[in-house]
Amino acid sequence: MSARLRQIHRIEDLGPEGCLELATLATRLRRHPEPRALEGKVLALLFLSPSLRTQASFQAAMTRLGGGSFVIAPDRFIHKLEFDPDRVMDGAAAENVAEALPVLAAYGDAIGVRAFAGLENLAEDLADRRFEAIRRFCGAPFLNMESAIRHPCQSLGDWLTLDDLEIPARGGRFVLSWAQHTKALPLAVASDTLRMAAMRGMEVTVLRPEAFELPEPIMSQARALARASGGSVRETSDRAEAMKGAHVLYAKSWASTRCYGDHAATAELRRGLTGWTVAEDWFAGARPDCRFLHCLPVRRGVVVEGAVLDGPRSEVVQQAENRMWAQMAALHRMLA
Ligand code: CP
Repeated sequence: MSARLRQIHRIEDLGPEGCLELATLATRLRRHPEPRALEGKVLALLFLSPSLRTQASFQAAMTRLGGGSFVIAPDRFIHKLEFDPDRVMDGAAAENVAEALPVLAAYGDAIGVRAFAGLENLAEDLADRRFEAIRRFCGAPFLNMESAIRHPCQSLGDWLTLDDLEIPARGGRFVLSWAQHTKALPLAVASDTLRMAAMRGMEVTVLRPEAFELPEPIMSQARALARASGGSVRETSDRAEAMKGAHVLYAKSWASTRCYGDHAATAELRRGLTGWTVAEDWFAGARPDCRFLHCLPVRRGVVVEGAVLDGPRSEVVQQAENRMWAQMAALHRMLA
């Protein structure tokens, strides 16, 4: 990565070298603050879906670099948005993304957008159709703050966390596990976590119950990324096999890919899945120092037992803090 960074959207476009370069810059900014690096710069943040960490970490990142930010979100009384520029707008929507996004982008020196998956149609969410409809009006510099199938800023922070923990990139055993939840969740974090670990060259295992396989295009892309970095990707529903010698367990829930959009059927599947709440006994065959990661927010007692979150394996708070340092590096590379 040599030229100025134009966008953070597809983590694989950064490549392992780009991720490493941003992690190195993040570490430098953590040790040697640059409180005037982005003086006079403004980051526009559009949240069409809720957030705690992403909003706070981006605003903190801009402030620590001497810049400013503003947040626009539907619950702050903006006009109802229409996402199809060709639609006759005689319904509830008063503003089209075709005007709203260029206006927001014009107020900022960079723009970040969050819009979660619709969770109704797998093909549409895999194609990130709604997000791409928005993105094309944003120009650059642009930051994906989580779309239907991507969460690159989470993965950049997680890359930094794995570096901080000195988890070996080559030969490190990384388990991405489905975990229990009360509702169907998007595939974005799971997909980018898999891409990120594969790009590091780790030995990645996707642990998931039947009917929660990650989509084949995501798996085959991850296998190719792993091959290019000297790593591997496999999947299993056998927990003991997956956890053997693991350095990291990264838990996340996602929607069933077999009955995607059928929320009653997915709920029925989940009800039958006992034992998918992460507990200390999951780590029996892992390395003694195996770490627990989760992007947060997390439901205690559903996704993971509180004892694991409160115990020495858990790095979830550091992981969330690292969002800020990693995003500072990205913003620095975009705007400084
Ligand atoms: N991990 C993450 O993106 O958190 P928020 O949804 O709170 O932003």
